[in-house]
Amino acid sequence: MKIIQTDSTEEATQVVASMIIEKALSHPKLVMGLATGKTMIPLYAKLAQFAENDFNFMKNAQFFLLDEYHGLPAGHPSSFRCYIEKHVIQPLHLDPLQFTFPSVDSPEGNISYENKIKESGGIDLQLLGLGLNGHVGFNEPGSTIDSQTRIVKLASETLKANQDQFVDVVPNQAITMGIATILDCRSLLMLVTGKAKADVVKYLLNHHDDTSCPVTYLKRHPHFTLVLDKEAASKINLNI
Ligand code: GLP
Repeated sequence: MKIIQTDSTEEATQVVASMIIEKALSHPKLVMGLATGKTMIPLYAKLAQFAENDFNFMKNAQFFLLDEYHGLPAGHPSSFRCYIEKHVIQPLHLDPLQFTFPSVDSPEGNISYENKIKESGGIDLQLLGLGLNGHVGFNEPGSTIDSQTRIVKLASETLKANQDQFVDVVPNQAITMGIATILDCRSLLMLVTGKAKADVVKYLLNHHDDTSCPVTYLKRHPHFTLVLDKEAASKINLNI
């Protein structure tokens, strides 16, 4: 795991944006996994700013979404699909056909998502956020290292952390890429900001393969970069 500690949320976000831009420019047919959450909103805004100068930026890329709520009516404003339309597709002038979302519509939907990722040649770069309880995507505590795309029950801590995003309906299930799906990506780029995440970042650094904190599995990945702002890094000491 490579850790990049920065002095501010702005700097951490800029570091991740620059890495994505560099990768997209050097790999025009980039296959990228996208994450949602509050942390990513300023990041997508920076990518959109860049896209204003280079309209072809990411025009030939392909995107897979990490996770989605299960049980929301189609087009519901709390869905991650709506989030991606608002923060990525429209501001970056991209074509919705470049995006694949995990499907919950058919029993074989989960396997077919894995197959679609494989058919694309596999994910080059998976962007990740981090849940307060150590979840990645919606791989809640208890998720196993061999887990694939599947429907999961959301932890009460997750529902509480995301409650400000729910309009009318509160979903209690989601569909998420599994830990194995994420470990199969060629590189992982995680952005973690804010004081609330300082404890889980400290836990990540001190534990390995810990099912109570699924993000610890990602330390097995040979190309896992973790970018932190000052507050998220406030309980660790990288100089020791
Ligand atoms: C959410 C999503 C993740 C996200 C994480 C952090 O529940 N499932 O994809 O990265 O939790 O979210 P936030 O950035 O809002 O803290």
